[in-house]
Amino acid sequence: MNGGPPLTGSAFTQKYLDGTPVSALFAFSSNLMPPDGPGQYSPAEYVDLIAFILRENGIESSGAPMPTNPVALDKMIVQK
Ligand code: HEM
Repeated sequence: MNGGPPLTGSAFTQKYLDGTPVSALFAFSSNLMPPDGPGQYSPAEYVDLIAFILRENGIESSGAPMPTNPVALDKMIVQK
């Protein structure tokens, strides 16, 4: 699992897409990813990556750009 666990599928869904706020994915990714340089991207780039991951998981976009503000991300609850 050196390249990391799958970012789609049932384990990922249970952890991040089952009533979980998007802020959890944002905090994990921006604090710990990528392992060789955590935090090296801007908040806007991290939310773009998260939007891509959500889309790959079949989560529909509202059409509005995803916010980078942690309070707003806390209020975005993903329920697959
Ligand atoms: C900025 C790009 C990246 C993003 C947004 C990202 C995102 C994530 C996310 C959301 C998880 C949590 C998965 C889960 O808990 O099921 C994760 C875990 C992990 N990723 Fe990444 N990842 C990135 C790049 C990388 C790269 C380049 C590697 C390795 C070469 C990597 C290795 C890992 C590993 C080993 C874990 C498991 C960490 C743990 O459970 O403590 N990631 N990543």
